[in-house]
Amino acid sequence: MSRFKVFITRPIPEEILAKIAAECDVDMWHTSAILPPIAEKIPPLDGLLTYGHEPVSAEMMDTAPNLKSISVMGVGYDHVDEDAARERGIALGHTPGVLSDTTADMTMALLLAAARNVVPAYNHVQVAKAWTYYDPNILWGYDVHHATLGIVGMGRIGYAVAKRAVAFDMRVLYYKRNRRPDWEEELGIEYAELEHLLQASDFVTLHVPLTEETTHMIGKAELALMKRTATLVNIARGPVVDHYALYDALASGQIASAAVDVTEPEPINTDHPLLSLDNVIIAPHLGSATIQTRMKMATMAMENLLAGLKGEQLPYAVLQPGWHT
Ligand code: DGY
Repeated sequence: MSRFKVFITRPIPEEILAKIAAECDVDMWHTSAILPPIAEKIPPLDGLLTYGHEPVSAEMMDTAPNLKSISVMGVGYDHVDEDAARERGIALGHTPGVLSDTTADMTMALLLAAARNVVPAYNHVQVAKAWTYYDPNILWGYDVHHATLGIVGMGRIGYAVAKRAVAFDMRVLYYKRNRRPDWEEELGIEYAELEHLLQASDFVTLHVPLTEETTHMIGKAELALMKRTATLVNIARGPVVDHYALYDALASGQIASAAVDVTEPEPINTDHPLLSLDNVIIAPHLGSATIQTRMKMATMAMENLLAGLKGEQLPYAVLQPGWHT
């Protein structure tokens, strides 16, 4: 029997690669620097493992009559046309759960860094070499403890953020399509409509998946509802926030600061106006980027890929093999 042909879009840990290579002929893009030409790679494939967010469209699937397994190394799969995969019976897997705590840690890191001026402090001391005398009047930030946190999108990651925020003695409001009375009771958190959450929060963190409904969910009108002292943290997907509205809100002092792990586009253009501001922190999509978590994600992605190739049930499925509408 001929071996499955698989393409992996970016380098993955060697031990995981070796397990896939034991069963498949693998072509792996060996650099993370440039977007791999995956449209050209797809036609002969049985399986595709995407690590990064390169779009996988219906047209691309149509060029690959043998494609049976798409494995996303990540929880978000907005870059893959799910309907097209479903219509073609292609299995689609992702890596939920395993990265929730890690992404929640990064959310708190961004929130704390923005609140307590960690980046300006670094710039002051290590970049500008300006710490030549002790000045007790510089870089005053905002308290995180006893402040109000508004969590928009209360899934696994939002829940993990709420747990951390409660440990910081924060008051936590959350907005979600389906209310979670069990989590309200367990964590002592409160449900709020989006408008109220934006008005009442000192920190707002975003954790919604990217859909038509959530695209530019935070724009001019929503930013105008926020406190002038508030910080916006986006660790969901860049297009959830209208970046030009965000620039205006930050430049005009409509909100105090932002800390984002995701941008639109990604990477953000080097001449984007947001990069000229000193009240925004931009991280290069690091939410799940720890050694431990990326190993777990790679393992799950490998298990999904191989199961889909063999027509078996995916352990972490969006679509099981042969799933038709
Ligand atoms: C995810 O898991 O969706 C992250 O964005 C990493 O790809």
